[in-house]
Amino acid sequence: MTQLNCAVLGLVSVGPWQLFVSQGRFCSVLLHKNYFLIPIRSFHSPIFTSMNTIKILSATLLLIFFGACSSPKETTVKSPDGRISIRFNLDDSGAPGYSVSFNGKEVIKPSSMGFEFKGQEAMKGDFELLEASNSMFSEKWEMPWGEQRVVDNTYNQLTVKLKEKKGAKRSLLVHFKAYNDGIGFRYEFPEQSGVDSLIIMDELTQFNLTGDHTAYWIPGDWDIYEHLYHKTKLSQLDATRYRDHPDLKQTYIPVNAVNTPVTMKTDDGLYLSFHEANLTDYAGMTLKVDTEKFSLTSNLVGSDRLGYKVKRALPFSTPWRTIQISETAGGLIDSRLIVNLNEPNKLSDVSWIHPMKYVGIWWEMHLGNSTWDYQGSQSMSTFAEGGKTGSGIHGATTENAKRYIDFAAANGIKGLLVEGWNIGWDHWIGFDDREGVFDFVTCYPDYNLEEVVNYGKEKGVELIMHNETSAAPRTYEQQLDTAYSLMKRYGIHAVKTGYVGKIIPKGEYHHGQWMVNHFRKVLEHAAKNQVAVDAHEPIKATGIRRTYPNAVSREGLRGQEWNAWASDGGNPPEHLSIVAFTRMLSGPIDFTPGVFELTLKPKPNNQINTTLAQQLALYVVIYSPIQMACDLPENYEGHPALQFIRDVGVNWEQSITLDGEPGDFVAIAREERGTGNWFVGGITDENEREIKIDFDFLPEGVVFKAQVYKDGPNAHYASNPGDYVIEPDNIRKGDSRTFRMAPGGGFAISLMKGE
Ligand code: NOJ
Ligand code: CA
Repeated sequence: MTQLNCAVLGLVSVGPWQLFVSQGRFCSVLLHKNYFLIPIRSFHSPIFTSMNTIKILSATLLLIFFGACSSPKETTVKSPDGRISIRFNLDDSGAPGYSVSFNGKEVIKPSSMGFEFKGQEAMKGDFELLEASNSMFSEKWEMPWGEQRVVDNTYNQLTVKLKEKKGAKRSLLVHFKAYNDGIGFRYEFPEQSGVDSLIIMDELTQFNLTGDHTAYWIPGDWDIYEHLYHKTKLSQLDATRYRDHPDLKQTYIPVNAVNTPVTMKTDDGLYLSFHEANLTDYAGMTLKVDTEKFSLTSNLVGSDRLGYKVKRALPFSTPWRTIQISETAGGLIDSRLIVNLNEPNKLSDVSWIHPMKYVGIWWEMHLGNSTWDYQGSQSMSTFAEGGKTGSGIHGATTENAKRYIDFAAANGIKGLLVEGWNIGWDHWIGFDDREGVFDFVTCYPDYNLEEVVNYGKEKGVELIMHNETSAAPRTYEQQLDTAYSLMKRYGIHAVKTGYVGKIIPKGEYHHGQWMVNHFRKVLEHAAKNQVAVDAHEPIKATGIRRTYPNAVSREGLRGQEWNAWASDGGNPPEHLSIVAFTRMLSGPIDFTPGVFELTLKPKPNNQINTTLAQQLALYVVIYSPIQMACDLPENYEGHPALQFIRDVGVNWEQSITLDGEPGDFVAIAREERGTGNWFVGGITDENEREIKIDFDFLPEGVVFKAQVYKDGPNAHYASNPGDYVIEPDNIRKGDSRTFRMAPGGGFAISLMKGE
């Protein structure tokens, strides 16, 4: 026990508590008549400052050591502002549980915790609480790139140490962190005698909700996040209805569960979002829904091949289970809880990571104008039929790449993605035997990688490598060295990876522990070679970008590509107004905005269900440090609106969600790093809407030269998506403007500081 070495200055008694106030390093001691001793240590120390990091750390630690004769049952921790309170308790049988309240009102009812194992007793009861410690932490850290530069990370922590009273007497720690914007908790299995490793068959974490909330959700699919979001009451939630989508051959939705982030609104108007942070060497968590009790229970993604969900050697910790809590929907978007619950940057110098806009030999394949494979016989445009009919035109040629580079250079766009450049594309979608097929270093004969790289360098455009694995990760892992050496040789600092199809080997799923580890291995390998990763068909974002800032972006949702070939009519107009409050809470999204030819002439049965002005707004609303201008160069021709894509920033000093409601609309303002220019974007669902923007966020005393890109008088996503107008304006702090958004529409504003 801590040795106390201080002079007692005074003594205060309140109920069962006695406080000895003292001088010295350990200031005070609290005595409770039932417990032995509670020393309160406090220390405040400015830790360090550096060029990029300003950190002020102050911590107060309260340790509660419980005596063997007493058996305390509960303990609490509150957020720094006191509004969120987490209570941990053991019930009479020693089963652990927690509950959460906001402003004195319960938001999570008492909910149980625990694990089921293979070859061991389940761990869910018969515990005693050995020790509880409270501490406080505060720092400011800097994002190398992000929605904002400086992030505040202030929380109060409670750690409880539990031990089983009988049997194997196993130990378990639970750490709770209470922030002003939500909570996180994780389990820690410490080193202990008699248990070396654990095979987890499931985690038994409950989230018992206080009512029949409105939920915004996608199914708890073990393989794919590319579902439409649904808005239902919890009592009406049925994810199993989405098992068979004609364009999703790899859905696997074993039970009525949802994937995270899942966002909810209570009848009192409070917003909650459930997710996880720091998913490391563990299985992704889906949440099983009890539609009668309004309860969620963790349902980890499993491995049918291995017959379990997670295998770990001790000691280890689980990912954080997170709940973001906000009185406004926009507060969820502005919350940095998920990144805060991750470890600091492990990659020292990340100056090789370049936030940028990029173009690509990409949309033309999704439209069916060209193909990935050399013979021109494969096309994603007929995805539903297995992608077997093509245009006869191979997209990734040296000549075509140069054409895109010229377009990018002329418009200040810094990146070029080329898909379909390498051998293997004649044997991907629709084939089961995809192991050993893709070659990540050998070009098709009509593509000269070196020539394209050099041409790009001359014009100031860098190449984004493309590695589609066709969900055969072992084939990719075998070639990681050669694939990344190739990138290093050519000075390529970004790669887009892809995992289309069912995972090989059979019985593994995209979101299981085996794949979580694969994705991390690729990220680490990429970092060693100074390559940033944009993963498609990825594992969910859980804030790992803080630790590995080369995790720049990912897909993990129904992206723009669906509009080109979906057999269900594409993304409905409300799609992105839900995505902003769900998927986007987890991290950057490679949505690939910027379609100007919205009727999709080559695809008579498809169209984009937004107006052109909304496509512009997406550069601000949907956050990613790499943003595609995805349309064909020829479709941008003659469009003054291209100026917005040229101007808009990709890296932000700060971001502010101005207004919004999931499924209806959202408006966000962001200040560009380095320039002080501001950009505002707003989008609406299928309903026409007026929105008033107060420009109070602008700095005092600057008149910004603004260009407003908005829906034209006849704009409508279905009948006239291309109708837009551009209006110049002068805007300063204190001004306000009202914008009309057409059905499926939006607006985008650039606010340039000028001289
Ligand atoms: C699916 C990705 O989401 C898409 O962007 C890519 O073009 C294809 N896979 C081919 O890799
Ligand atoms: Ca995809």
